[in-house]
Amino acid sequence: MPRAVRFNNYGGLEVLQVVEVERPKPGPGQLVVQVKAAGINPGEASIRKGVFAERWPSTFPSGQGSDLAGIVADTGLAVTNVAVGDEVIGFTNERASQAEFVVVESGNLVPRPGNVSWEQAGALFVAGTTAYAAVRSVSLREGDTVVVSGAAGGVGSIAVQLAANAGARVIGVASESNHKWLADHGVIPVTYGEGVEDRISAASGGKVDAFIDTFGGGYVEMAIQLGVAPERIDTIIDFAAAAKYGVKTEGNHAAGTADVLGELAGLIATGRLEIPIAKVYPLAEVREAYRDLEQRHTRGKIVLLP
Ligand SMILES: NC(=O)c1ccc[n+]([C@@H]2O[C@H](COP(=O)([O-])OP(=O)(O)OC[C@H]3O[C@@H](n4cnc5c(N)ncnc54)[C@H](OP(=O)(O)O)[C@@H]3O)[C@@H](O)[C@H]2O)c1
Repeated sequence: MPRAVRFNNYGGLEVLQVVEVERPKPGPGQLVVQVKAAGINPGEASIRKGVFAERWPSTFPSGQGSDLAGIVADTGLAVTNVAVGDEVIGFTNERASQAEFVVVESGNLVPRPGNVSWEQAGALFVAGTTAYAAVRSVSLREGDTVVVSGAAGGVGSIAVQLAANAGARVIGVASESNHKWLADHGVIPVTYGEGVEDRISAASGGKVDAFIDTFGGGYVEMAIQLGVAPERIDTIIDFAAAAKYGVKTEGNHAAGTADVLGELAGLIATGRLEIPIAKVYPLAEVREAYRDLEQRHTRGKIVLLP
């Protein structure tokens, strides 16, 4: 029987299990993908810990994960856009992608370009569409200076490249271990911690036009202090500060579509976007994968390989 990640109650890493499940069957308009790679995201850890239990409760036993790439294994009635054997990149909104087989809506897939690795394809959906939404929301123009906090993380590493592609000068806030990667991708690296605001001011020459916060913990206030207009600040994590200062909160919900996924896959295929893969884990090591992610120092993405 195929294996899938499951948890039966909210809790720490210990509630995560890899169990044998029935092979899922597609309904009308759905298909089944044999998953080759499934990215992991911090939001899934928060769901599993019960942080969102009131707003977005889990039903138990719960599966986990949205990101996926794989091979179409079975199609339901009225599926015309893909066929068995097609290689695809996609997503599920059913918390289910961390599995050997997963049901996917036929509208939630795009073809995998041959030169996009399984790891990059499987890691693309949540982080990629979130970065896309965040960059779009701050309306970058050629020559603007934008600051990205968490610049080398899953979302940040993609956001800095999309911002540079838009013609902006990009300042990336990250630890020194990530500075070479950032500089190699055309980003001016700045170390976080005490004095970071002064270092950003120095690096920007005193003019910051836009700010994308992927880390929280005071970066929205800092952006306001730096004189950035609220409509050109986006945070994907600090919703209290967003409410207080009236800044944007555009993330996955604003761009989580197959069209955007296809656009991002095209950028990778043509060499204009790279998804750094920090580490891959077999599905059986799902706990180790999240333990690693929850340190909050990942460069790019961690990916499970079922
Ligand atoms: N709203 C949405 O739609 C949405 C979607 C996706 C994610 N999110 C949220 O956005 C956040 C980022 O997600 P992610 O997948 O990019 O996380 P991630 O891959 O775990 O990235 C974490 C990054 O934070 C950096 N960091 C650690 N301490 C920092 C500090 N004091 N200042 C600045 N950066 C620091 C790390 O950089 P160093 O290694 O250099 O320390 C690391 O690159 C998470 O909280 C996640 O839940 C929201």
